[in-house]
Amino acid sequence: MTRTKTIETSSLVGQEVLIKAWVQARRNMGKIVFLDLRDRFGILQVVAVPSELDAESAELLKDIRSEFVLAITGVVQARGAKQINKDMPTGGVELLAKKIEILSSAETPPFEIDNEERQANEELRLKYRYLDLRHARLQTNIILRHKVINFLRSELYKQDFLEIETPYISKSTPEGARDFLVPSRNYPGKFYALPQSPQQYKQMLMVAGFDKYCQIVRCFRDEDQRGDRQAEFTQLDIEQSFVKQEDILVLTEKLIIDLIREILPNKKIQQTPFPRISFPEAMSKYNSDKPDLRKNKNDPNELAFAWVVDFPMFEYKEGDKRWGVVHHPFTAFDPNKIMAVEKGDLKDIKALQYDLILNGSEVAGGSIRTHDPEVLKKVFKALGHSDKEIQSQFGHLMEAFKYGVPPHGGIAFGLDRLLMILVGEQSIKEVIAFPKTTDNRDPLMDSPSEISKEQLDELKLKKV
Ligand code: AMO
Repeated sequence: MTRTKTIETSSLVGQEVLIKAWVQARRNMGKIVFLDLRDRFGILQVVAVPSELDAESAELLKDIRSEFVLAITGVVQARGAKQINKDMPTGGVELLAKKIEILSSAETPPFEIDNEERQANEELRLKYRYLDLRHARLQTNIILRHKVINFLRSELYKQDFLEIETPYISKSTPEGARDFLVPSRNYPGKFYALPQSPQQYKQMLMVAGFDKYCQIVRCFRDEDQRGDRQAEFTQLDIEQSFVKQEDILVLTEKLIIDLIREILPNKKIQQTPFPRISFPEAMSKYNSDKPDLRKNKNDPNELAFAWVVDFPMFEYKEGDKRWGVVHHPFTAFDPNKIMAVEKGDLKDIKALQYDLILNGSEVAGGSIRTHDPEVLKKVFKALGHSDKEIQSQFGHLMEAFKYGVPPHGGIAFGLDRLLMILVGEQSIKEVIAFPKTTDNRDPLMDSPSEISKEQLDELKLKKV
């Protein structure tokens, strides 16, 4: 007999089915035992009456507790009018058990699975993440994540975007955060870096002629964690050749609106087309480049998107006492300002950069790129890089741009952050299956962890 999903039972009254699922709760009512069985599709009430069970099953029933994994064969029956539970998708039926098999017993979990009210602390939740993930809320979030990724992928594929993987063991790209480094065994003293984003690779894919690229991709940034940041997070990364800023904004705005209408129809987008505000206006009006534009902040279904445009290309970094870039050095800027950049006059230069903000968070950022290697060199020089540094850090891109580079631009969505807001969570940890703690540890696998002396020796590394 094949396994039936709990959710399917509502339409199977009178039929014999086999359910395989976890015990969410057990209630004893004299001789009758009620079991709530849980699989990822929902909950089903099982009625176990000793007189209906075979002798062996009746004996097993005595031992069954929460979180046991069971296989139960029984007959689906309609509930009496008074017993119907309108809040449950299977609330109109119950399963009259005939045969029970224990597939796996379970110790008492370190926190309750069916009671979200009494939530454990983060350390415990992440140490037992596989149990935490059994909570209905997290199941919903992770399943929604799958649906969102599936939708975005298939929409982009339909529009001729190619999903192309780029390396994770790579060389650092300057996106402004600290790199995660990977020592190389074959080249002692040299390091790979985990990419902060596939920025340079996607630009080289444009040079290669793959004019529409997308990728659901992991990015790594060794930065301090906050509610909306993780050291490793996921982007929906997009790059396209022969486009203007307007093309990228129109493409991605439609993608996001279609996504919400299809996957989250209860959500209300406050304004379409998304309003656009310039960076100077955002700063003078809201003193923020990601203002929360919701009219009604108490409504959990309100989504206030807006594009922030007209960022400055450069900003003075007071801490470092030097000029830096607002987005990244590959961003194109006002072509009338090339001379100014050459002279190091970096104030008030408009970049072709755009951010998408949602309810006070930056959920995407991108730009049109500089594709003229000479102009790119001027940017690196203005940022204080020597010819040698330019060659060693960006030589590959400058070289690539010598062989016929299409004008191009793109954008990257912070997928975890977008999901967090769409499902109304306060932290991106709630939409990631295995996140790290705020101080960057994984209590489940116990990482980071010591490594053996042999491993260190092999890498020619010494502890200090
Ligand atoms: P950017 O650095 O703006 O652009 O990143 C794009 C989006 O990624 C999300 N994000 C994060 N999410 C979770 N944790 C983090 N630590 C984190 N850092 C960033 C944000 C952000 O808007 N290569 C460029 C994109 C481009 O120019 O095409 C890039 O990575 O939502």
